[in-house]
Amino acid sequence: MTQLGLVQNKVVVVTGAGGGIGREIALAMAREGARVVVNDIGASVSGEGHSEGPAQQVANEIGALGAQAVANTDSVAEAASAARIVQCALDQFGRIDAVVNNAGILRDRFFHKMSVDEWDAVIKVHLYGAYHVSRAAAPHFKEQESGCYIHMTSTSGLVGNFGQANYAAAKLGIAALSKSIALDMQKFNVRSNCISPFAWSRMIGSIPTDTPEQQARVERIKQMTPAKIAPLAVALASDASQETNGQIFAVRNNEIFLMSQPRPVRSVHRGEGWTPQDVLSHALPALQSSYFGLDRSADVFSWDPI
Ligand code: NAI
Repeated sequence: MTQLGLVQNKVVVVTGAGGGIGREIALAMAREGARVVVNDIGASVSGEGHSEGPAQQVANEIGALGAQAVANTDSVAEAASAARIVQCALDQFGRIDAVVNNAGILRDRFFHKMSVDEWDAVIKVHLYGAYHVSRAAAPHFKEQESGCYIHMTSTSGLVGNFGQANYAAAKLGIAALSKSIALDMQKFNVRSNCISPFAWSRMIGSIPTDTPEQQARVERIKQMTPAKIAPLAVALASDASQETNGQIFAVRNNEIFLMSQPRPVRSVHRGEGWTPQDVLSHALPALQSSYFGLDRSADVFSWDPI
């Protein structure tokens, strides 16, 4: 590599990088000069099983590009194993510059049927996973006064979706985690941002294709490849995006969105305070015209990917 890359020599940990979006981010980071820890436990979509294959395969692909990578198969979901992922970066490359919290699983179920195990498994991989890996990297980022976190959130949490209470809660929790890290670690020159990706991957490969219309639609959605997410991740990891901290982006094929964050939209006030009756007769009717609909992600992103 003769020309310097956007993340030249940075050491980047990408979790869940054995396939899908994580793999593309790992490859794109490597193409821009990064040394990459390719973490993946090689699990099924629901988080079962363990295989060393996917992480090693992606590390080999990066090696074939002439860049440096190491495979790691520790789980993000426990503190000790997450710490080993960060330690792997230090052992192999002597430092850590960026963490991409991308590992994930799904255990979809309507809320009234969701078991404690289904709730726990998803919260552990997404919310605890993002926390554990971030926390393990934090002392190093603080010490070196630089570092960058990129977390995958989802419109399932930011907007809403059926049957994903566990996943939505974890993903909105990750958005709050990211903002909190951005606030707490800004003084050490550490940045934390979220990406809410849309991509055709095994996670969404179960959309029905019974009719010709559905088949045509799935073909269009398939253009929305995981590789489309990677350029934003690389840009966020680069020192050239120093001004970008505490933000939530969405990427859907060739569109990049800046997502809003909750702020008061309207208020009502009564000098003498409120009784429950007043709330019913005055506050709620006054606020109702500004209520948010029970939207799902697909209601807000209602057009086919561009
Ligand atoms: P994927 O299933 O292809 O990739 C997730 C990877 O995480 C898998 O390779 C899996 O083995 C790994 N993994 C699971 N548990 C792990 C653990 N405990 N420790 C380490 N690795 C583990 O899925 P995809 O679509 O690439 O998703 C990547 C991220 O993007 C996830 O966080 C997902 O929630 C998020 N996302 C994806 C969307 C999409 O449209 N594909 C939409 C919204 C969010």
